[in-house]
Amino acid sequence: MLFDAADFDAHETVQFVHDSATGLRAIIAVHSTALGPGAGGCRWWQYADDAAALTDALRLSRGMSYKNAMAGLPMGGGKGVILKSPTAPKTEALLEAFGEAVNSLGGRYVTAEDVGMVDADMQVIARRTRHVSGLPVHGNGVGGNPGPMTAEGIFVGMRAAVAHKLGRHDFKGVHVAIQGLGSVGGALAEKLAVAGARLTLADIDADRARAYAARLGGAAVPVADITRVAADVFSPNALGAVLDAATIAALDVAIVAGAANNQLATPDDGARLAARGILYAPDYVINAGGIINVVAEYLGNADAAHVARAIARIEGRLADIFSEADRSGRPTDAVADTMARALIGRGALAAAA
Ligand code: NAI
Repeated sequence: MLFDAADFDAHETVQFVHDSATGLRAIIAVHSTALGPGAGGCRWWQYADDAAALTDALRLSRGMSYKNAMAGLPMGGGKGVILKSPTAPKTEALLEAFGEAVNSLGGRYVTAEDVGMVDADMQVIARRTRHVSGLPVHGNGVGGNPGPMTAEGIFVGMRAAVAHKLGRHDFKGVHVAIQGLGSVGGALAEKLAVAGARLTLADIDADRARAYAARLGGAAVPVADITRVAADVFSPNALGAVLDAATIAALDVAIVAGAANNQLATPDDGARLAARGILYAPDYVINAGGIINVVAEYLGNADAAHVARAIARIEGRLADIFSEADRSGRPTDAVADTMARALIGRGALAAAA
């Protein structure tokens, strides 16, 4: 049943939105507001069925609670999904209707970009609610596409993993296999190339992968091969659930560190990685750079230098998780979940006091 489903996990609110005029069908899930308003982007995606959309919203929303808590942000977790459909194109009217729905939650949910949404969409949503972020850069120099900020967090987080697992303090000659060269993966490839890493790249847009490889001096491989490349690091920067029993068995790397949300297909996959001696940088810890930027923009309380310092702290946070995993013998994802739940629990206690 719904309330007992594993993915529901005590969500505070799940709102199902339907707007007849525009065909909007959306789900807004708010997992927790214990630490502050539930912040998390909105995804525009075609799902196999409504149940898949609900599962995605719930998993992503809880992930945002954990991500925001671990990033030290005064925010809870939430997520929006708009069900993409041929009969409901992404018109301005549809986005405005979504903005109305966000507004009706009175600030318990703050939206921003996710897969399928861009900053121009956020500007349309902003006509109907102020609880929106990821708008173009304004006064304090913070805002716009969060992808490059996320890439910076992945870069410093990967550095922590390389130091911990390989005992190396730079990327010179470190071989990184990158899956997905979009907003995050592309910016990450650039940074790693500058730092002297050796790159193997794959994207479903094969021309894109080849162009990056030619420009940055790496190799491009077919998408089916990227999880099997013999490398130091595998960096998933496409879609989620890429780490399952089959891919983990085929991995030939020491480290997994990338931006994709919900990389582990099941809760067992963190233990599978650990059992193979592969160091996993928990996705919601390493990919927090974008939300750090988005929240600074929403709260208007930080400039670009402050955001850069907050992103830099991802490196030390991961180093702590890796050390605790070694000490306790637990997988890194389990260590991070425990830390995140403790932070959210303390927030709930403080709110009740
Ligand atoms: P994007 O849409 O800009 O790029 C995704 C790239 O992956 C595209 O180039 C696409 O062609 C490629 N791709 C899709 N399926 C693939 C496959 N099976 N194999 C290889 N390549 C494939 O998305 P973006 O913004 O770069 O995000 C990447 C991932 O990181 C997503 O999972 C997103 O949820 C996550 N993320 C993004 C953040 C951001 O600030 N943009 C923040 C936190 C997480």
